[in-house]
Amino acid sequence: MTVVLGIETSCDETAASVVDEHFHVLSSVIESSIDEHRAFGGVVPELAGRAHVAHIGPVVRRALLDAGLDPHHPAIDAVVVTSGPGLVGSLLVGLSAAKAYALSWGVPLVGVNHLEGHLFAPLLERSDLEWPMLTLLVSGGHSMIVLQTGPGQHEVLGETIDDAAGEAYDKVARWLGLGYPGGPEIDALAQTGTAGTLKLPVSMTGPDYDLSFSGLKTAVVRATEQQSDVALADVAASFQAAVCEQLLRKLRSAMEKYEVRGVALAGGVAANSALRDGVTRLSQEFGIVAHLPTLQMCTDNAAMIAAAGLYRLGADGPSAMSLSARPNWQLADVP
Ligand code: KG4
Ligand code: ZN
Repeated sequence: MTVVLGIETSCDETAASVVDEHFHVLSSVIESSIDEHRAFGGVVPELAGRAHVAHIGPVVRRALLDAGLDPHHPAIDAVVVTSGPGLVGSLLVGLSAAKAYALSWGVPLVGVNHLEGHLFAPLLERSDLEWPMLTLLVSGGHSMIVLQTGPGQHEVLGETIDDAAGEAYDKVARWLGLGYPGGPEIDALAQTGTAGTLKLPVSMTGPDYDLSFSGLKTAVVRATEQQSDVALADVAASFQAAVCEQLLRKLRSAMEKYEVRGVALAGGVAANSALRDGVTRLSQEFGIVAHLPTLQMCTDNAAMIAAAGLYRLGADGPSAMSLSARPNWQLADVP
């Protein structure tokens, strides 16, 4: 039985997880430095890097112990690590640690793409995935529609040409004086507001699958300047409806073109209640299966990295010890 340790440090979460070849998660530990970034309204790379240095050792140790392994001589077959995309200083902490563990335990090192990791998250929770499937991968740094014909077989159909969906949530929340990260705050506020109170434009109405959220953010700023008495909840509901409308419209047109058997959500914005409801409704309408990962599997974690590494180890073999950080590594460039 192949068992791997996954390490994730691409942004503000220091995470480690032990996963076996059947995608059973034996442990998953996440330490976030988000509280240190809140006052700045976004992740401060220098603070994130320092926090990873402080957390990586204890987090890996806890993951090994939780999986019932000896932290000094664990029965691990490979060490998997996110090598990109992400903050370079943060990635380097995970990479350095992963190389040290792999060398001292005498096991292979496997570098994986963080976005491919997100695509593996649904596999860790369900064994009945239906292929081919369309995945809407929406996070703080990325937004894309991906066609998957099997694990590790993916084609990016379209992606954002400017801001990511989560980034738009965070920027609008900041404009409204809400906390960081903005997604959960706006999602909660939107529950009590009326969508459509603010007239917001529908972006990207073309036939391709590209997305755009920067204009929508600017439209919220303009509209709230003109209508300064509008209730915060109504702004949140209007913005959320506009984001979901764009995402669901593009997903629908991809579902019409590609005959898929499943549809999945991945990334932090996949925690959004309106988006989850919308994807569930779409899947019912098309008579296909919806794979909605649990909230903790939507956001950054190391179990999804370990899962992607299990696949990559089998498909490509181990990485070289010279493996470096790739801060701008696109999913489309994963072989
Ligand atoms: O995937 P993730 O944990 O980190 C990145 O790789 O970016 O995603 C974080 C993003 C943040 O922008 C956050 O505001 C957004 O996901 N987010 C949400 C919700 N929960 C988190 N956006 C909308 N609704 C939510 N409920
Ligand atoms: Zn992520």
